[in-house]
Amino acid sequence: MRTYIVLLGPPGVGKGTQAELIAKTTGLPHISSGDLFRENIKDATELGTQAQSFMNKGELVPDDLTIAMIRNRLSQPDCSQGALLDGFPRTTVQAEALEKLLAEFGGKVNFVPYITASESTLVERLSGRWTCKAQGHIFHEKYNPPKKPGVCDVDGSELYQRDDDKAETVTRRIQVYFKQTAPLIAYYRERGSLSEIDGARPIEKVTADLLAVLGK
Ligand code: AP5
Ligand code: MG
Repeated sequence: MRTYIVLLGPPGVGKGTQAELIAKTTGLPHISSGDLFRENIKDATELGTQAQSFMNKGELVPDDLTIAMIRNRLSQPDCSQGALLDGFPRTTVQAEALEKLLAEFGGKVNFVPYITASESTLVERLSGRWTCKAQGHIFHEKYNPPKKPGVCDVDGSELYQRDDDKAETVTRRIQVYFKQTAPLIAYYRERGSLSEIDGARPIEKVTADLLAVLGK
């Protein structure tokens, strides 16, 4: 049976960090909509050009573009057992589209870990984040520093600060989350798949809770 996990939570709460860690345990591919957009921007594709202006402002990329991209990704052979979704869905329209798409594959959203933290924690995490250029591995100058400053521990590539991690864009991303994505908390709670996890604790404690929710 396929297993689909949706990691829900505000910008900077640790979705990408946790997804990297639990992808190994679950054996499911980690699919981050933000990473897919950033790859398209790096490769200067048509989709990348369309997405970039929204991302730089901290706004959501339109649903039709986002849904088409995820549909394509979830249809790849490595998703035959399911997937670990990070950053998608982010609107009710996307959640409904995902439900239909997974039904086509004979699956459904099985688990929705909803990770929480205060707004001040989110801002502190985003302002200290360093991301790897080659593959998007995630570090924090204080909470998860790389062994060598500016260099990714995993693949040795250069670390950079995401364009959308500057202060005014972070504020907008958090506002957009509360307006457009927070309604998904009720959406998944009603469907019985939501589990709330306190994300304001050390990385390994959050991972342990996540694995418990997933029965691992
Ligand atoms: P996306 O890339 O998804 O960004 P986001 O949701 O804003 O989330 P982040 O990646 O910023 O945070 P995260 O929760 O992954 O935290 P992380 O693990 O890095 O989206 C970017 C943009 O793309 C959107 O604004 C939008 O424009 C577009 N987009 C993407 N998906 C879309 C969609 N579905 N629809 C429309 N548009 C879409 O951790 C953050 C920092 O904290 C790191 O430095 C990390 O080391 C540190 N950290 C993590 N956990 C802990 C911990 N427990 N304790 C201390 N530090 C920690
Ligand atoms: Mg992320």
